[in-house]
Amino acid sequence: MEDRRLISFQILDDVFNKKIPLKKSYEIRVKDFDKRTASYIKELVWGVVRNKILLDFIITQTTGKDINNISNKSQIFLRMGAYEIYFMKHKEYAVLSTIVEIAKKETKNQEKFVNWALREFLRNFEKIHIPEDDSLKSLSIRYSFPINFIKYLINNVGIERTVQLLEFYNSKPSIFAFRIDDMDYREFKDNERLTRNEYILDPVYLNIFRSLQLEESIVDVLDLCAAPGGKSFLIKSFLPNVNIIAIDKDPKRVELMNENIKRLKLKKITTFSADVLKLNIDKLFDLAILDVPCSSTGTIRKNPDVKYNYTKKLKTLPQLQESMLEKASEFIKSNALILYITCSIFPQENHQVVSKFLKKHKYKLISQFFTFGEPYNGGYGALLKKEEE
Ligand SMILES: C[S@@+](CC[C@H](N)C(=O)[O-])C[C@H]1O[C@@H](n2cnc3c(N)ncnc32)[C@H](O)[C@@H]1O
Repeated sequence: MEDRRLISFQILDDVFNKKIPLKKSYEIRVKDFDKRTASYIKELVWGVVRNKILLDFIITQTTGKDINNISNKSQIFLRMGAYEIYFMKHKEYAVLSTIVEIAKKETKNQEKFVNWALREFLRNFEKIHIPEDDSLKSLSIRYSFPINFIKYLINNVGIERTVQLLEFYNSKPSIFAFRIDDMDYREFKDNERLTRNEYILDPVYLNIFRSLQLEESIVDVLDLCAAPGGKSFLIKSFLPNVNIIAIDKDPKRVELMNENIKRLKLKKITTFSADVLKLNIDKLFDLAILDVPCSSTGTIRKNPDVKYNYTKKLKTLPQLQESMLEKASEFIKSNALILYITCSIFPQENHQVVSKFLKKHKYKLISQFFTFGEPYNGGYGALLKKEEE
């Protein structure tokens, strides 16, 4: 029992105080635990991250303490306790005593405060009142999304759709297994195994590839941010005979891609680790796929920590994405294609990157696809054709 709450505390400390991505911290910290413990930890930490703003609100409502005036570690203990009691309906006594015990070990003298605050939380539990109106502030508290994020949605899709999307973004994502040979997919449940021609892929990418209408004449493909292989494998489904050169900066992810290629028994895919921006290849291609690093805001169900740090990313990543697009252009023939993809719901990483590129280069925009998500992830795809100089 102590272990799972201690590990949960450490993961949340990584996420909120050390800015380590939730998925990364979870994968590192639970790798030696059994499935049951791992799934308990997952429910608790994903729940706390998903509901952080709401939890802070009910902690303030019950204790009278502004969460910002509490030390970083105590904030986490209180969020964990509030989440377990309010959402998971765990036994109050067990939650309180274990969390105070961990606070004793992990902090200098903060356990008394944590004990007091959790007892206040319980004493005033009946006073918890979550605002139900549709003002920006209330929506932000109720769904635990920053006000700017909600403003962006309302400006684009109106209030009704915004509420639907916020509910969807807070739901647990389904996982899908995609079959390479007949391009169909199924929901993939815990404890199931992938068959030999399946891999995990969000169906939104199938929709993107279908809507973009790729040409049959494509022979040589360069996948520039390829690992762990999702889009290369999708191209293989659409055009089984293409030759693919797939690169990625991260050698560990390239290794993962190699394992996937082997398991799926795919032919004519060569992989290596390299930085797109420094790439030198003496060959021109019919199609370059550029599935760029992005804010991942289209995957907020799976990565709820993204909602608290996307604004910083929107300031730096578009420049990298533009440079990558410029670089991709060096590797394709004239009349050849670039497929630009993100899992972002923000124009700064999508339409705006593409339109800046189109202003500078002789390319034609063949087609575009964009979704805020539901029933799958959010994302963007654009197919660009290089015109004769
Ligand atoms: C969105 S993920 C790609 C997912 C992959 N296309 C798939 O479908 O499985 C972005 C990838 O870009 C890679 N990356 C980031 N910067 C890079 C660079 N400068 N050169 C090459 N790859 C890079 C990351 O390692 C990451 O694997």
